[in-house]
Amino acid sequence: MLDRALLRVSRSQGIKKLVTRAPVTSHVVSRFVAGEEADDAVAATRRLSATGLRVSIDHLGEYTTDRAHADKIVSAYLLLLDRLHEAGLSAWAEVSVKLSALGQGLPDGERIALENTELICGAARTAGMTVTVDMEDHTTTDSTLGILRELRKDFPDTGAVLQAYLYRTEADCRDLAYAGSRVRLCKGAYSEPESVAFKDQNEIDRSYVRCLKILMAGEGYPMLATHDPRLVQIGQRLATDNERPLDSYEFQMLYGIRPMEQQRLASLGHLMRVYVPYGTDWYGYLIRRLAERPANLAFFARALISKN
Ligand code: FDA
Repeated sequence: MLDRALLRVSRSQGIKKLVTRAPVTSHVVSRFVAGEEADDAVAATRRLSATGLRVSIDHLGEYTTDRAHADKIVSAYLLLLDRLHEAGLSAWAEVSVKLSALGQGLPDGERIALENTELICGAARTAGMTVTVDMEDHTTTDSTLGILRELRKDFPDTGAVLQAYLYRTEADCRDLAYAGSRVRLCKGAYSEPESVAFKDQNEIDRSYVRCLKILMAGEGYPMLATHDPRLVQIGQRLATDNERPLDSYEFQMLYGIRPMEQQRLASLGHLMRVYVPYGTDWYGYLIRRLAERPANLAFFARALISKN
């Protein structure tokens, strides 16, 4: 499988150096990443909000290996929230965080990640925004959902993410489909073993629909994160079947992917949120985007050839 091979190869430090230093890379990165600084993320938010789109901003970075780095990431989020607030963009924005970037993998990591995320949630609340906790590979799912439960005691509007490729996710959807619970449903972006995850695309899609039915019939606030036209259509139908008002769920897509479709859904009155990553640590994110779609890889390869 191309995707698994690519994700494996991407872990090599040599490949990482090659990709990050290739002159064409910045051209490809800028398609998927808003820039390196908080001001770039603010500028992207201003541009997108002017066309009616909301954003969830992710400061890129994952798998923090020391406390100082986790603290730096917290500071980056606090600065970003400040800048968004100052720019008058709070109504359009929220932030997404990765617990592994906030220290989850360190000794006593759950406590550190919880405290760090609480700091970000507190600043987000002051600035009139919310936080969604991204989901990473399956070894972190229980820990992440446990931290989310803790966070929701003080910050009940904190968003969760569930991945349809995991066998467990239907049950997690049932647990999280309660009033006020914001749940982003995505297919899942990591290379997972067959013991925990569906591998076949059709099975993943069917699981997505089963999960979505639970969320749309429930009392929470589903966030449908997919670019898949069939799933978008099914989402619209389920919203109608469940008599959901337009402001009781939202669609989400990634920055740079299907921008016309983002505009189309917004023009139909749907809430459409774009996930906007920024920062210097874009390598892992870029590789996942390349791995999930051969056309993205071809785009990268074409850029490499045409610039050399
Ligand atoms: P998939 O990649 O299977 O694509 C399905 C179809 O969509 C394609 O066949 C095509 O028709 C269309 N399509 C896709 N890309 C296109 C393109 N570039 N141009 C035109 N058509 C295209 N994952 C995770 O594990 N944890 C997380 O926290 C998150 N968070 C997250 C937030 C948001 C807002 C999004 C949109 C996604 C995530 N993800 C994620 C990533 C997610 O799990 C998944 O890897 C990608 O969204 C790709 O899956 P799709 O549902 O888009 O389907």
